[in-house]
Amino acid sequence: MSRPLSRLFARNSGGTGQATDDGPRRRFPLPRPVDVAERIERAPALDRPVRSLSDTVVRALPTGPRADALHGVPFGQPAHPALVRLPLGCWTSAALLDMFPGTERAARTLIAAGIASSLPATATGLADWSALHRHQQRVGLVHAASGACAATLFGASLLARVAGLNRAGKALSAGGLTAATVGAYLGGHLAHRLGAGASHAEPIGHLASLGWHDLCRIYELPDGRPVRRQLGYLSLFVLRRGPEVSVLSDHCAHLGGPLHQGRIVTEDGADCVACPWHGSTFRVADGSVVHGPATARQPSFRCRVTESGTVEIRPGS
Ligand code: FES
Repeated sequence: MSRPLSRLFARNSGGTGQATDDGPRRRFPLPRPVDVAERIERAPALDRPVRSLSDTVVRALPTGPRADALHGVPFGQPAHPALVRLPLGCWTSAALLDMFPGTERAARTLIAAGIASSLPATATGLADWSALHRHQQRVGLVHAASGACAATLFGASLLARVAGLNRAGKALSAGGLTAATVGAYLGGHLAHRLGAGASHAEPIGHLASLGWHDLCRIYELPDGRPVRRQLGYLSLFVLRRGPEVSVLSDHCAHLGGPLHQGRIVTEDGADCVACPWHGSTFRVADGSVVHGPATARQPSFRCRVTESGTVEIRPGS
């Protein structure tokens, strides 16, 4: 193992009782899984393969219906977490069946179904992964490598079983399930600790107090060019078209990119904004998603202009 990679798995030296972000640490004989995951986040040794794979995926997947389908735009949430349950469920069930006699055929069928269903899960995962921040991509790369390792071991297990080597097949399945479990843990770290896949704009609806709020004067807004305005500590994307004003959360639902720095484009005759970070495109009028990688709509605000020219907004479209 190369030195930088070996450091990922080095023992946790934080057993001094010092308070950290995660609270006081205790002495463990092995590093906690979360410590390993955090070391992976900070491992520049992974950047080279991350860059080359990411560039390949981005080149192979231009913005359009195919990329949107892989991201899960038609479903309103990322497709990968739902699809990855199929191989995990099949492989876990096969490993459980291995504990009982007379279940060889069912176990083989489940392993084959798991391998087949891992293909769409991999495609959707790669699409989402290609539009993440670098530290998320490092974790995602090891997550994907664990999944590939699991698929390979279950494939070898299937071949061994077909050849009548049931004991070897069961051992390979056990190895595959271990690799899949490591991958599942890192997937959870990506989703729940690093916020990949979750909407980064959703809380704004709860942070703005109810009722109408003065935002600015309409003549202060340039026509046709988005600007950022603050409502207290909330950042808002504001676009004026003549007398019409549209307001969205300024933090992109995908990963929080600044929407007011995005391009205004027209899709199906409607004004849309394309995020400057990964190109998610939202309808300005209501925040609905036109193109991913974002799958959650951008929170929008109701807007009205008073006779004196004050733009007033309230949460909810
Ligand atoms: S932050 Fe990724 S598309 Fe906006």
